[in-house]
Amino acid sequence: MKFARLASLLWCGAVLASSPAFAETQLKVYLSSQGQPAVWRKALDQFEAHNPGIKVTIELGGATSDLQAQYLNTVMSAKDSSLDVLILDVIRPAQFAAAGWLSPFAGRDLQSYLRPYAEANTVDGKVVALPAFADAMFLYYRKDLLDKYGLPPPKTWDELAIAAKKVTEGEHSQDLQGLSFQGKAIEGAVCTFLLPYWSQGKTVVEGGKLTFDRDAATKSLALWKSFAEAGVAKKNISEVATDDTRKEFQAGNVVFAVNWGYAWALSQGDGSAVVGKVGVARLPAVAGGEQSSCLGGWEWGVSAYSKHQEEAKKLAEYLSSPEVSKFMAINGSLLPTYAALYTDSEVNKAAPWFADAVPVVRTARARPVTPRYNEVSEVIRTTVNAVLAGVTTPADGAAQIENRLKRILR
Ligand code: GLC
Repeated sequence: MKFARLASLLWCGAVLASSPAFAETQLKVYLSSQGQPAVWRKALDQFEAHNPGIKVTIELGGATSDLQAQYLNTVMSAKDSSLDVLILDVIRPAQFAAAGWLSPFAGRDLQSYLRPYAEANTVDGKVVALPAFADAMFLYYRKDLLDKYGLPPPKTWDELAIAAKKVTEGEHSQDLQGLSFQGKAIEGAVCTFLLPYWSQGKTVVEGGKLTFDRDAATKSLALWKSFAEAGVAKKNISEVATDDTRKEFQAGNVVFAVNWGYAWALSQGDGSAVVGKVGVARLPAVAGGEQSSCLGGWEWGVSAYSKHQEEAKKLAEYLSSPEVSKFMAINGSLLPTYAALYTDSEVNKAAPWFADAVPVVRTARARPVTPRYNEVSEVIRTTVNAVLAGVTTPADGAAQIENRLKRILR
């Protein structure tokens, strides 16, 4: 009797120990809600299928990069071990590595990736994260409407303003905006500021030194403000975040939109009013200036506090592989981090404009790289927002940015 009970206990124990519930490693991946989480989930399902001992759950971050950073700063400052793999905006690896929050990939080299991402993920000679997807800002436009009015995609912001007026006036629609861009005090508004600023041939930081040009900054802020004042952009553009631009464009209410790569798949997907009507071009320049774009993109970091270092690294490697990069390009229009995928026929079939996107990504400029990037970003984006909301003038805004950056980057 005694023996029988013991035997059955042992048998139960053996069954439990060999059942997946016991052997399983649970990994938690932190994802951005702006970067196609449903498509990443499919890639994670594949990973689970090939790694029966590992289960992966997703934790979804806030709607914008800055909200996500705020949350991650709290979690990581508390040395919280609940997140294993983190998706990080391209501007963050430097700060996260300086804080000791990332577990480096020893012996890894990043030569197979596009150069800007190899650079962004290498801090003090160490590979601190692996590229997830590339990104840059583009000009989305309504091909059907530009064709209707015999207009080519604009090369300068002045041309854009004229084209936008012509189309919106011709269409007699109350709902049609000429241009949508990001005026809310979100991370994307840093790029809003930088686009016309860089286009004037200016830089913000060089070799760790502030090279800020106040006149060019004033012109940049004045340009965006003039779009709202002239009715090219809507009056409350100071309330518009990235995904608002995406949704309004997709609803057919915008002629030109400044946005990132992810907006393409959604504009061609279910429920979009503009399927087959969208063109993507380089962003315009200021008159006499150069067309420039802002480098975006996301990276996979492994939390230094993860209790599953080996499995987390295996997952990050998988998510950063050419296979997953291709899968995400085709199914989520996330730009690949491998050059070869830009000429891949299946990728080009899914997103025909990708072939033209690679030179943009390669020449896009990086936002200032500094462990104090959070503060730099805060100064720029809140000022862009204040100017667009009419709280401050472009000239005062430019002076405020300069003074505050001097203190941060001295
Ligand atoms: C995109 C870019 C990212 C940028 C963000 C701003 O997700 O990839 O780099 O910071 O937009 O909204």
